[in-house]
Amino acid sequence: MKKIYVIAGCALLIIGSTMCRKPNTSALDDDSNFDPRLSGGMATFLDVSSGSFSTPIPGLSANDARVHSLGDQLFEQSFVAAPAPRFGGLGPAYNNTACANCHHNDGIGLPTFGGVGSSLLMRISIPGEDEHGGPLPAPGFGGQLQNVALFGVQPEVHVDVAYTEQTYTFPDGETATLRTPTYTLSNPYISLPAGYMTSPRIGPTVFGLGLLENVPESTILAHTDPNDVNGDGIKGRANYVYDPVTKRMEIGRFGKKANTSSLLVQVATAFQQDMGITSYVQPLKSVYGQSQMSAVPASTAYDLADSSLNAVVFYIKTLAVPGRRNAGNTDVKRGEAIFKQINCSGCHIPTMYTGVDVNLPALSNQRIHAYTDMLIHDMGDALADHRPDYMAGGNDWRTPPLWGLGMLEKTNGVPNYLHDGRARTVTEAILWHGGEASNMRHAFTKLPKTDRAALLSFLQSL
Ligand code: HEC
Ligand code: HEC
Repeated sequence: MKKIYVIAGCALLIIGSTMCRKPNTSALDDDSNFDPRLSGGMATFLDVSSGSFSTPIPGLSANDARVHSLGDQLFEQSFVAAPAPRFGGLGPAYNNTACANCHHNDGIGLPTFGGVGSSLLMRISIPGEDEHGGPLPAPGFGGQLQNVALFGVQPEVHVDVAYTEQTYTFPDGETATLRTPTYTLSNPYISLPAGYMTSPRIGPTVFGLGLLENVPESTILAHTDPNDVNGDGIKGRANYVYDPVTKRMEIGRFGKKANTSSLLVQVATAFQQDMGITSYVQPLKSVYGQSQMSAVPASTAYDLADSSLNAVVFYIKTLAVPGRRNAGNTDVKRGEAIFKQINCSGCHIPTMYTGVDVNLPALSNQRIHAYTDMLIHDMGDALADHRPDYMAGGNDWRTPPLWGLGMLEKTNGVPNYLHDGRARTVTEAILWHGGEASNMRHAFTKLPKTDRAALLSFLQSL
């Protein structure tokens, strides 16, 4: 009733003046009207086990549930070399044998290269842009280094990571140890090209992405502020990337630099680049770089059946978001207020709404708390990879969602944060923030210890 009043009052005012504010949306913005546990709206699952990233969204039809579980099986499956009756087509060069090896329990992976649980991969390119403004493939290596290969095949290169540590001391004496990674490329099968640029990336969590794919482009653009007109230091920009399916430039949503436009392209490219498995979306084998790739005839029988690719896409699209724990706790609520006060929320946007999805009600018109703006930001030199990716520069990274952050230890053991997994604790991750987030990092380090602890409790409740 109250709402009707407001709207009626507004209509009357319009007649007399132009001062009428937008219809009162405070009911939609006011958190107290909503259950704070529902980070993914209807697509939330309240579970606190190691499987909390691996649950389908509620309300799937029996048939959709079957497709989800077929996709699940393909996601878990270690693929093998062709010819094989099932799950063939691996390689000849690749990064790992299964999606789940890099996205453990649909969460993150280990910051190492090439081992069973290793989840790091290394992008490569040379200065310049391809015909769509994307990274220019390194001759003989393509856009990604495949550092593992089938028996009898030479991997493109061997990649190692080592760390140097330095101690950070808070004004109140508490310390944190920050480790800086250095990467070494050795034994390339041919010489690496002059001036090559690399970008290390660790596999992120893969739940809730159906919701993020449904966030209207206009909502994402509403948070951009490339010239920092509001003077808060934050200049979010959207990335625009070439989509091989629509054959157009589209807004980037996925990947560490918002370098991929859709889940279909993301999954097909993962199969192709990370595992060497071709599909109707990415039909060319990816070994020894693009130039040799194009020498391989586009086969009519891809490694992966269309229905299998679509099932994995559907699986990813329909993974629910874990609900929050302890959202009503006093410390957690205080931490939430601090998060907003020091403007962490300027990039990690607490609330957005998804658009309409006529097929999957749990993803449609949902009020979600992903804590991302899906935009790219200059995060400072210390985090830079110095490798542009479409509109994203060498210092830019996409704000990652923070939902599920507090569950990572349950799903993945020791968590590894940031694009390359260098941070071992949330505190380390925050201390690495620079560039557009310098003010907020500074504010964090100046907080009294109890306030820092409250902020961390809030983050652990996500
Ligand atoms: C070698 C490890 C590795 C393997 C194998 C792998 N991924 Fe990934 N995955 C990554 C990395 C690293 C990224 C970030 C890529 C980027 O920034 O472009 C990623 C990104 C993603 C994303 C986007 C997540 C987001 O929020 O942006 C999805 C979805 C995904 N992978 C699904 C899959 C699927 C499905 C498979 C199996 C076909 C797979 N991955 C195989 C490492 C891996
Ligand atoms: C200017 C935008 C911006 C602001 C402001 C900001 N962040 Fe971030 N945040 C990012 C980006 C971008 C990354 C990813 C950086 C990377 O991967 O190297 C990130 C990463 C993180 C991560 C690691 C997440 C993960 O999954 O690895 C945490 C935790 C985090 N931010 C918390 C905070 C907190 C707390 C604040 C306030 C003190 C804050 N952020 C302020 C943009 C921002």
